[in-house]
Amino acid sequence: NSANIGVVGLAVMGSNLARNLASREGNTVAVYNRSRAKTDELVTEHPEAGFVPAFSYEEFAASLQKPRTAVIMVKAGRATDAVIESLVEVFEPGDIIVDGGNALFTDTIRREKAVRETGINFVGMGVSGGEEGALRGPSIMPGGSDESWVTLGPILTSIAAVAEGEPCVTHVGHNGAGHFVKMVHNGIEYADMQLIAEAYDLIRRGTGKTPAQIADVFAEWNRGELESYLIEITAEVLRQVDADTQKPLVDVILDQAGAKGTGAWTVQTALSLGVPVSGIAEATFARSLSSHAEQREVSRGLPGPADDAQSNWTVEDPEAFIEKIRLALYASKIVAYSQGFDEIRAGAAEYDWKIDLGAVSKIWRGGCIIRAQFLNRIAEAYDTETELPVLLTAPYFVEALQRAQAAWREVVATSARVGIPAPAFSSSLAYYDGLRADRLPAALIQGQRDFFGAHTYKRIDKDGTFHTLWSGDRSEIEAEDTH
Ligand code: 6PG
Repeated sequence: NSANIGVVGLAVMGSNLARNLASREGNTVAVYNRSRAKTDELVTEHPEAGFVPAFSYEEFAASLQKPRTAVIMVKAGRATDAVIESLVEVFEPGDIIVDGGNALFTDTIRREKAVRETGINFVGMGVSGGEEGALRGPSIMPGGSDESWVTLGPILTSIAAVAEGEPCVTHVGHNGAGHFVKMVHNGIEYADMQLIAEAYDLIRRGTGKTPAQIADVFAEWNRGELESYLIEITAEVLRQVDADTQKPLVDVILDQAGAKGTGAWTVQTALSLGVPVSGIAEATFARSLSSHAEQREVSRGLPGPADDAQSNWTVEDPEAFIEKIRLALYASKIVAYSQGFDEIRAGAAEYDWKIDLGAVSKIWRGGCIIRAQFLNRIAEAYDTETELPVLLTAPYFVEALQRAQAAWREVVATSARVGIPAPAFSSSLAYYDGLRADRLPAALIQGQRDFFGAHTYKRIDKDGTFHTLWSGDRSEIEAEDTH
């Protein structure tokens, strides 16, 4: 009974998290892996960690102090269920099983319910920061019961990243809330990455700068309001030269983006909730388009702009153009985060979680992939107004969007004119214009729906639900509300 926390699953993320835990005062870490070799390797390579190795679930349970607390770090999906089943067999009521993988939040809700029936606590926990974060301090998004947070809180606080003097962990909400928030984090991550990629592409094609020169642009941006981990690593990636060919590495990497599914979940969930996360969706679809190899192959020769604007296009004033792109990126980024927080708000309402949006923005300031200077502005916005319905309406963002607006419009217009895809830039702008519109053509859609399906409409000037007798005398009747 010597360990206060255990880790199951010792691939890179699991071993790094275990090492992080072991390095903090007061923790003794039990480790278990399905194949013995990984456990032996970790324990041998890191004697300083003082791991307590276990080679069966019984041994693992026996090595843990009560309430037993175990973090599962296996590939999300069936493996998680299998480990949970094994742990439930050897754990007792009051013990805590934590899933630190990228689980789909509805799976977490299901698992929490099932495990709770045994009296054992189940916590779905989002962990962000990649391998490095797991080792040195991730951003941690735990869900689960208040009871488990009592034990888990201090342990997680000991390993989380620290930003502005505060640990990047908070009890997000019950059952699946932590994984839900982690899912949206990843959706925002997709948007951030796509926006950066579009900025790079436009700069490269518009100014002819080399990847290494564009790396300097990003490094410069990283000293201003765009300062973030993703901008920082973008400069590093662009600077990388391929050892074999001596070309920029970015020019020899196949241009088909992978995705493990969390972006798609964010969009699917938003669709079910009716939340317009259009920028995040475009970013996710942009990855799909890039990997749509056969379709891209047969489409390659399709005609572009009539005057061949694309191939002849170079901007007159590269520096001014780059600044416009920076502003377009910043504005679009504000939209992506605003959409993400909108989804969290809607998820909280739907699943009955009390999620403190300000606390979420604070734990994303350090450790995670989307960590950025910018999160401080979001935290301030929620500090001023906890229930802010639309993040981008906070005064700071309104000012930033105002400042960026002309450039943003010009960049989107230019990309359309010369035929360079900028889906996330343009959809973010369309979202902004849609939100701020006095009136939308949705009225026409309601008319169409009523025409072909008697779906009814509401009027601006009186209460009630109406239907026009389109195939009759076209008079209007009061109708049952069928949406
Ligand atoms: C994180 C990341 C991480 C995930 C990558 C890969 O927050 O540390 O989100 O959880 O592994 O983002 O995701 P894709 O393979 O879908 O790009």
